[in-house]
Amino acid sequence: MRKLWGGRFDGETDALILRLNNSLPFDRRLWRQDIEGSIAHATMLGATGILSPQEADQIVAGLQTLRADLEAGQVELPEDAEDVHAAVESLLRERIGPIAGKLHTARSRNDQVATDVRLYLRAECDALVAEIRQLQETLLDVAAQHFETVMPGYTHLQHAQPVVLAHHLLAYFWMLSRDVERLSACRGRVNRLPLGAAALAGTGFPIDREHVARQLQFDMLLENSLDAVSDRDFIAEFLACAAILMMHLSRLAEEIVLWNSPEFGFVILDDSVTTGSSIMPQKKNPDVAELVRGKTGRVYGNLTAILTVLKGLPLAYNKDLQEDKEPLFDTVDTLHLVLPALRKTLASARFQVERMREATAGDFSTATDLADYLVRQGMTFREAHEVVGRIVRHCIAHHLTLETLDVPTLQALCPTLADRASEVQAILSVQASVQSRQVRGGTAPQSVRVQWQVARDSLAGT
Ligand code: ARG
Repeated sequence: MRKLWGGRFDGETDALILRLNNSLPFDRRLWRQDIEGSIAHATMLGATGILSPQEADQIVAGLQTLRADLEAGQVELPEDAEDVHAAVESLLRERIGPIAGKLHTARSRNDQVATDVRLYLRAECDALVAEIRQLQETLLDVAAQHFETVMPGYTHLQHAQPVVLAHHLLAYFWMLSRDVERLSACRGRVNRLPLGAAALAGTGFPIDREHVARQLQFDMLLENSLDAVSDRDFIAEFLACAAILMMHLSRLAEEIVLWNSPEFGFVILDDSVTTGSSIMPQKKNPDVAELVRGKTGRVYGNLTAILTVLKGLPLAYNKDLQEDKEPLFDTVDTLHLVLPALRKTLASARFQVERMREATAGDFSTATDLADYLVRQGMTFREAHEVVGRIVRHCIAHHLTLETLDVPTLQALCPTLADRASEVQAILSVQASVQSRQVRGGTAPQSVRVQWQVARDSLAGT
């Protein structure tokens, strides 16, 4: 394979060094973007008269047929090429001869690679937003079946106050909405054109960068050539968005693992998303959820990797920047796996409505409701808290529950409750508890229905 920089060199590059230096094994996935960027560049070179119209046409036509043939699998990238840019250029030369050498006029691989990655990432932001939207759709579908499904709400993983399952699931909906917002904002900063920066200082050729930006649908130009070829903040930002997204997915995954355990028994996962054990015949494991949780580690690692690569790099381009791609691609691939996997897991899950309700029985999770009741009778909240605390302590000592506390005991413990026993018993039910939380954003089924509709509309509106 002819090198792009052979003229200056006498000797051959060491084989091991080639393995270290060459990026084709991983940047090959950028070939479409590389050709797209080159077509725009060559078209502009023709339009500005830097190349003759015939030369530009010949190069563009060559790139177009090459793209079609690569797409159809009729040609392959030469394995011994240094990187995807060298590979595409050598295939073009095979087709159209030495004129292919004019394509690189007023361009460097430094601005070329930055352009390719931005084109790639722009499309991936869109594709990932679409995947997140689908997961959100599934959350809405499942939530719609569980407006009335009462379950324990937790703090410190202790029963705290009852909630409805739809409310719990919608919490994840909103987290994912913010992930979409973050990715969309990130896309805006990705979508800026570096091409024209050339190696680092710009070019003396009268190129038209706006022309290229319009062809490639970039929102704007990067205004500083040194910045354009040397920063990868857009990759770091994307990887940070991805890390936060994975953190959310990992929390949801953790809850699926917990809920699927016999101790909780809140959900039964479908056979299609679980796997067995090679030794224990009875096992059915929630591997999908565990892998989502586990893969969060590599996505965090990829963010750390890019930040570390960038830290302390002097301007402008340094070969260190070639290390931007593997963390990026790995994160994109991971998200494309885990988002649909989690969606399938949720869509096919069977929530154990009865078991969830049973879990709220005798768990003292309506103690706050009792305290609130006493406050309505005129007690200060602090005093009410103390009184209810004593009632709970009594119940625990005598193996009683709030719901089954008999009237005389209740009155003895709290004279304010005298003659109000039936009213009190009514407010101690978990149904009454969730029902009462009608504040906007609260867990009352009516409020959750409103919330669900707002969520639904927000999805339709984007
Ligand atoms: N493969 C290189 C990369 O990914 C392309 C840019 C090479 N530039 C250079 N001056 N050697 O960063």
